[in-house]
Amino acid sequence: MKEVDKRKALFYVAFAGVVVLILILLSFARIPIKEYLIGLPSAKSQTVSLLEELFEIIYKIVYILLWMLLVVSIVKFFNTILAATILSKVKNAELASLLQSVVSVVIYVFAFITIVRSQFQTDLTTLFAGGTILGVVLGLALQDTLGNLFAGLALQADQPFQIGDVVNIPSRNITGIVENVTWRGVRIRSFQNKILLVSNSVLGKELIEVAPKDGDNARLLFFSTIYSESPAKVARVVREVVRQVENVSSKFRPIVRIRNLGDNGIEWEIKYWLEDYSKYNDTDATIRMRIWYAFKREGISFAYPVRTFYFEEKLMENPQSKEKIDEVFERLRQVSIFEPLSDEELKSLIENVKVQVYSPNEPITREGQEGDSMFVVHKGAVKVQVVERDIPKTIAVLKEGGFFGEMSLFTGEPRSATVIASNETTVLKIDKDSIKKLLDANPELVEAFSKVIAERKQALLEKSKALHLEKKEKVEETSGIIEAIRRFFGIRS
Ligand code: CMP
Repeated sequence: MKEVDKRKALFYVAFAGVVVLILILLSFARIPIKEYLIGLPSAKSQTVSLLEELFEIIYKIVYILLWMLLVVSIVKFFNTILAATILSKVKNAELASLLQSVVSVVIYVFAFITIVRSQFQTDLTTLFAGGTILGVVLGLALQDTLGNLFAGLALQADQPFQIGDVVNIPSRNITGIVENVTWRGVRIRSFQNKILLVSNSVLGKELIEVAPKDGDNARLLFFSTIYSESPAKVARVVREVVRQVENVSSKFRPIVRIRNLGDNGIEWEIKYWLEDYSKYNDTDATIRMRIWYAFKREGISFAYPVRTFYFEEKLMENPQSKEKIDEVFERLRQVSIFEPLSDEELKSLIENVKVQVYSPNEPITREGQEGDSMFVVHKGAVKVQVVERDIPKTIAVLKEGGFFGEMSLFTGEPRSATVIASNETTVLKIDKDSIKKLLDANPELVEAFSKVIAERKQALLEKSKALHLEKKEKVEETSGIIEAIRRFFGIRS
């Protein structure tokens, strides 16, 4: 037993001893006091007998109070001993302490009834049953206590939260960690280390948000970036940052998504799961700080609540700046199919090339649709997919320098496959007019293109057979394709 408990127990014993002493003294002193206060019993008059009755009543009330004090100190003594010995070892300590409190209250009530009965020779149970006013008074007096008790019992039975859980009662602006649940109320330690005591009857009426200690609790964080930032890049950078932060659960992949395209920029939302939810303030702060540093490293800008005026810049669409033209030139020079082109012809082609960026998993062409442009993968990669029983199957992956979309462009047929950006991908889009100019200037190209088209058609056919698709038409000879291209572009042979 702890020193404090020992002292408490000793105090109750001493207190009970004093009360017993007073009770004994009072019983001995009863007659002398009465005589002293009222005078000699011989000198009886009406006033004296009234005073005598009053004295008896006061005396009995004092007696009842003293007896009650004795009962309380004895119960408290046993409670202290029980709490320090048996209850501290019991598994469900809250339930035990609740039971202890209930038993104590029952003892007090019975003791009170018995003592009053012994003093006034009145049966209190009839008083309780028959006395409507007394009932109302008692009911009102006990309203809160009973409310708390029953709400406490309901809480114990339901167990909507446990010690260590984080609870939030929005209407009362209370957030903290549950420290104790008793029959009267719940003790919550706020994040400012303050103790908040919320009575059970209040808790029973409120909406409570509970983040279980061992549950997978998620948080949402928000930030904004300016419009010129690539969403795919921002999402990738932020996701990596969040994953690295301590206390972020590795069980779930953090979600970084666009919430809104706002007035001041792209508004983002991060959803992440915590290992220890009670430390969410620190974890949120670390994530925000790490995002700031990562943005600094990656050259990404947060959006400020200001209005930014953009003078439309064509650079993103058409590679007109010197650097961009050089970059695109280098890319197209490496594309096998453009090998027969002179540098001059390539430069004139670039004038009409469009630079386009696609987000991860965004389709660039769709199987079965019309198409009059082809694409060269400038940065990133694409997947060529055909659908088999509603499930897309990847039949080829094209990396930087790879090209696609030429089949429809040259023959006018619908797109033979769906092409999807694997990650953020920049493509160079070349339209029919530019190709026509090229073919007019350099008819050799027709053969080069038809060869590729024949190869790809063959590959498609084989894949289709392998996947048991219905597309099983015969592949024409290269000469047939050359003819088709010439016809489609109105080129004389
Ligand atoms: P098009 O039919 O215009 O649109 C889909 C494109 O996917 C197609 O042109 C080709 O460029 C490309 N494609 C189809 N089959 C293959 C394949 N087997 N390998 C690589 N690319 C292909």
